[in-house]
Amino acid sequence: VVTTTAAADPSVVVNVAHRGASAYAPENTIAAFELAAEQGADMFELDVQETRDHELVLMHDTTLSRTTDAETVFPGQSPWRVGDLTFSQIRELDAGSWFGSDFHEPVPSLGETLSAMQGSGLGLLLEIKSPDLYPGIEARVADELLRNPLWLTGNRVVVQSFDWDSMRTFHEELPQVPIGLLGTPKAAELDDLATFADEINPPYADVTPSYVRSVHDEGMQIFTWTLDDPGDMSRMISYGVDGIITNKPDVLSDLAVTP
Ligand code: G3P
Ligand code: CA
Repeated sequence: VVTTTAAADPSVVVNVAHRGASAYAPENTIAAFELAAEQGADMFELDVQETRDHELVLMHDTTLSRTTDAETVFPGQSPWRVGDLTFSQIRELDAGSWFGSDFHEPVPSLGETLSAMQGSGLGLLLEIKSPDLYPGIEARVADELLRNPLWLTGNRVVVQSFDWDSMRTFHEELPQVPIGLLGTPKAAELDDLATFADEINPPYADVTPSYVRSVHDEGMQIFTWTLDDPGDMSRMISYGVDGIITNKPDVLSDLAVTP
């Protein structure tokens, strides 16, 4: 789905649902990923962290306070870090009700998500969040993907992080999986980064036509975030980006011809 996209073709852009269709359903839950599929996304993005007992779970913030009811369920666990609670404790939490009173969702494990979304046809942009907090997480993510081999065909999964050293490590663990680097490396750095990376994924405020050309000249793709406005999406498409990461995949579906 991903790496075969024609670079710089303004009529083709990969539609990536950021934390799922997170404008309409609670982020990093199966409900948000299923809605992304209904809204025409090509891929869904998620954030992986680790519990105290090394289960891989989906959570954006390094604490549980914003997107779960952890402060109510475990009042003595301040500051409610993901890595301080066991998986069984985190499963007691509701990751939906903060978003709206109609939503009640568990915090999914990565394994559950891979199983639930396997038949969706969507690709996965898997972010390892704050890997410095979870030594060895790269190997555990690689093992989970190896347990789900249907995800390893056709470049269906891309693994990304703001931590580029972690991505070098992941590339050594599982070289067949494409790597994305979050952030905006200088043009002079791209040649070295292209030795292990396949995508450069900057915030859209940093993207210019010449930066897109620099990334493409090194044989990499560029996926930009996080755009919900159709005017911004059209501008990024005109610059030749390969993918757009959005909380509103329906807006991009209505705008673009996607693969
Ligand atoms: O995929 C891009 C985006 O997820 C990076 O930022 O903070 O939403 O994880 P953040
Ligand atoms: Ca993310």
